[in-house]
Amino acid sequence: MNINAKTRLCGLIGNPVEHSCSPLIHNSLSEILGINMVYTTFKVEKDSVKEAVKGAYALNILGMNVTVPHKQEVIGSLKEIDPLAKSIGAVNTLVRMDGGYKGYNTDILGLYRSMTEEGIVLSGEKVIILGAGGASRAIAFLCADKGAECVYLLNRTVEKAKEIAMEVNRENDKEIIIPMAIADYKNIPGDSYLCIQTTSVGLHPNDEDVVIGDEAFYELIHTGYDIIYNPYETKFMKLVQAKGGRAFNGLKMLLYQAVAAYELWNDVEVSKSTSDRVFDILKKEMGIND
Ligand code: ATR
Repeated sequence: MNINAKTRLCGLIGNPVEHSCSPLIHNSLSEILGINMVYTTFKVEKDSVKEAVKGAYALNILGMNVTVPHKQEVIGSLKEIDPLAKSIGAVNTLVRMDGGYKGYNTDILGLYRSMTEEGIVLSGEKVIILGAGGASRAIAFLCADKGAECVYLLNRTVEKAKEIAMEVNRENDKEIIIPMAIADYKNIPGDSYLCIQTTSVGLHPNDEDVVIGDEAFYELIHTGYDIIYNPYETKFMKLVQAKGGRAFNGLKMLLYQAVAAYELWNDVEVSKSTSDRVFDILKKEMGIND
């Protein structure tokens, strides 16, 4: 990598940021594509988001990613916001424009791209979402946006599931999301579902934990998608596979949220073969051999 006077800078604001894989992904993309852009991380405290965005613009920084805990807070510092990011209420990518930054949510674009690549079609699909945090909320909006037939949204704290359901159903003027307590999973009608696991249950080092342990539940699942990628194969994925379903982890979502941001910043299209090369670099870095 030849850093010179024309090198453009992008970076990640959040706290903590030291363990992020994003620099590896973006700098690998620049290397492969021969684009003069570098990417690093910026630790930004909770009360400094506004100054950070203003300063980034003043320094002619091309774009930023935003991570925990600033994804909502940063919305107040934007010049414009993409409509899907606005509905979701969270922004993870800032793209430079005249007078400021436009905010996008490439987390959800990345999930959608990785699902499409695996042949998962949301249109007309019956979906179960486990969890009702920030990721679940975004996925519920995506399912509605892409025409899912119905979404059972299950959470330990049912009130949070009800809140998401209310918002998504109101925006779509349709009862697409059906909120439920996790404990009531047996009330889901017998059918064949895509199930998206968005809780933190099963995250390393708690590799053997799973939000629903009853093997019978997994008979309902033709495809399981866990947004966790560490461990590479979660307990949830193993249970789905044991009943004959296909199962995916969240590493491709991580890759494609970065690819989508990179494309927006540099006005390029990243091919599947380039993405695959970066995916291999990412897996090697994480010590994954499959
Ligand atoms: P994110 O923004 O990444 O989605 P989050 O907002 O912290 O993360 O949400 C975490 C999700 O994991 C929530 O749905 C949480 O359930 P509650 O809303 O009931 O807290 C879920 N979760 C975390 N630990 C859990 C556990 N031990 N059992 C069941 N659900 C759990």
